[in-house]
Amino acid sequence: MIHFKQLAQEYKTPLYVYDFDYMAKQYEALKEAFRGRKSILAYAVKSNSNLSVVQHFAKMGSGADCVSIGEVRRAFLAGVPAYRIIFSGVGKSDDEIREAIERDILYINVESEAELGRVELIAQELGRVSRISVRVNPNIDPKTHPYISTGLHDNKFGVDLESAKRIYIKAKNSPHLDPVGIHFHIGSQLTELDPIRESAEIVADMVRSLQAIEIELKFFDIGGGLGVVYNNETTIKPYDYAQAILGTLTGLDMTIICEPGRFLTANAGYFLTKVLYEKKNGSKRFVVVDGAMNDLIRPSLYKAYHKIEAISESKTELSEADVVGPVCESGDFLAKNYLLPTLEHNDLLVVHSAGAYGFGMGSNYNTRGRSAEIAIEGGKARLIRKRETFEDIIALETEFLQKS
Ligand code: LLP
Repeated sequence: MIHFKQLAQEYKTPLYVYDFDYMAKQYEALKEAFRGRKSILAYAVKSNSNLSVVQHFAKMGSGADCVSIGEVRRAFLAGVPAYRIIFSGVGKSDDEIREAIERDILYINVESEAELGRVELIAQELGRVSRISVRVNPNIDPKTHPYISTGLHDNKFGVDLESAKRIYIKAKNSPHLDPVGIHFHIGSQLTELDPIRESAEIVADMVRSLQAIEIELKFFDIGGGLGVVYNNETTIKPYDYAQAILGTLTGLDMTIICEPGRFLTANAGYFLTKVLYEKKNGSKRFVVVDGAMNDLIRPSLYKAYHKIEAISESKTELSEADVVGPVCESGDFLAKNYLLPTLEHNDLLVVHSAGAYGFGMGSNYNTRGRSAEIAIEGGKARLIRKRETFEDIIALETEFLQKS
């Protein structure tokens, strides 16, 4: 039981609150599903990159799936060992590649032939051998929102099977590259098992065909993507997920790497926002709150549904309202046509399932400071990120003001 009202009073709003015990429970459930096989859960740092969150998973033995050198640095700072850190992403700069090689992470996940060339060259300059995996694009429709679908040739991610094979052969023949893994990630918020199974089959066949030419891979990286309940979705159970994957790996002795993000963090998180006032334009009802799209952009960007709970004394009948923030955009809303009682100034709204891709996708748009973040563990609350002040926002600009 989280005392949202007390938290809002003590830490002010807008506020992100994360239930660390729930995160741990999700982590253990997924880890347990892969029991009996060597496996690493490499937490997808992008889903919630707060250092304390990453540290929380690191303490449980988690690795880290990173998509920028910034995320790699976060993982190190949070105590994730180098040998459990993966660096993916379609566009890595030379500096990022160099640092990843110097830091000796588990592997760099290569997403194009051109990128392999850069990794080889930089490894050579450093006199090192870079471990790599290849992100394969299996051309499977994951049946999720198009913006978070990644496994089709139409999407920018990974390489087709033909190119993947060429990359592996090139890597095997290079003294500066060591191909150790294979990777696929077909999309996020996946609620159907078949596309995952089909992709795993394709990728496992690829592993077998590589074995035939004496390229032996150690890591079978299945990406992330496990969906969660936001509203009334039917989701995939960790056990069924693991079984579907393991079923494709007969005869292959590989360590499974899974990169869960949302599954671990989404439903651990709550976004707290206070009602400023109600207004009506004609018959259209608006509840104006102090949180906005710069805090939680998922509703605006993906029309994502987030359950909203009103903590209010109001006993009035429910009626539909748009919950909107102070940002100067018509697209600034947290919910549309949502049933809510009449609300008063300072009533609290709790936006659920906000732990993944919430704070991290936030911005300072309209010169709004980002919220504070709170962890709840064993019934105790603690601050894990201070609220951003006006001074924080302008700090990198003030020295350039021209004197009159
Ligand atoms: N691994 C790779 C290579 C990824 O690209 C992603 C997510 C993950 C793992 C973690 O996926 P998850 O388990 O969290 O589904 N901003 C969007 C989601 C973008 C996901 C990007 N990649 C949203 O708010 O729904």
